Amino acid sequence: MDKYEDFISTVSHELRTPLTSIRGFSQTMLESWDKISDSDKKKFLKIIEEQSVRLINLVENMLFTATNFILKDVALKPCVEAVVSVLKNRYPTRVFKIDISEKLPAVLADKDKLHQVLTNLIENAAKYSDSDITISAAQVQNLISIKVTDTGIGIDEKDYEKIFEKFSRVDNPLTRKTEGSGLGLYITKNIVEQMNGQINVTSGAGLTTFEVRLPISNLEARVRCSQ
Ligand SMILES: Nc1ncnc2c1ncn2[C@@H]1O[C@H](COP(=O)(O)OP(=O)(O)O)[C@@H](O)[C@H]1O
Ligand SMILES: [Mg+2]
Repeated sequence: MDKYEDFISTVSHELRTPLTSIRGFSQTMLESWDKISDSDKKKFLKIIEEQSVRLINLVENMLFTATNFILKDVALKPCVEAVVSVLKNRYPTRVFKIDISEKLPAVLADKDKLHQVLTNLIENAAKYSDSDITISAAQVQNLISIKVTDTGIGIDEKDYEKIFEKFSRVDNPLTRKTEGSGLGLYITKNIVEQMNGQINVTSGAGLTTFEVRLPISNLEARVRCSQ
């Protein structure tokens, strides 16, 4: 099997699994409505909802790699706040701390795609930990460094590179328990690099940090003007 066929077969599997489950549970409910208890109905609807979210995430991530990039000035703090307000509803038990100065220079990025990058990283932090998540940002020379930190299960150093590969998930009891396609970080890295940025991960002493570095927008503009 070549690489393309391999990709298609994995994508088909990833799409089919949630679709089969949505179809199966809705069919069962329609056919046996009167025989199913209220609590089972609720359980089935919950599964349908979860699998729809999984499908939406997958499709959104796949679409994001296929569309053009429009790089513009983006204020980071409102973007992080928008992402957090959505994730707060999805993960009501998590506390999201945002530590970003109002004075931070804008980044040069595609706003929608930056939104997707932040969603992927912050959602992972929420999925793979059960405590507070901190999103901070600071200027480092000509770049803005954005850090998403959690205090969850962590990642072994030997897996630092592997997790950015497509469809790769680290096998542990928590990943087995949580839904995921293993596509998020692969796409995240892809998007960050297409916006002239870098991404890295460090994990140890109970802290896991994903760092994204992106160019400062006004600096890029200044460089362009002087050319
Ligand atoms: N914050 C984190 N803490 C611990 N493990 C993580 C974290 N983020 C990602 N991972 C590991 O990296 C894998 C790949 O992540 P990702 O590409 O987003 O896929 P998914 O979340 O769909 O499994 C995850 O399955 C998990 O094993
Ligand atoms: Mg993920």
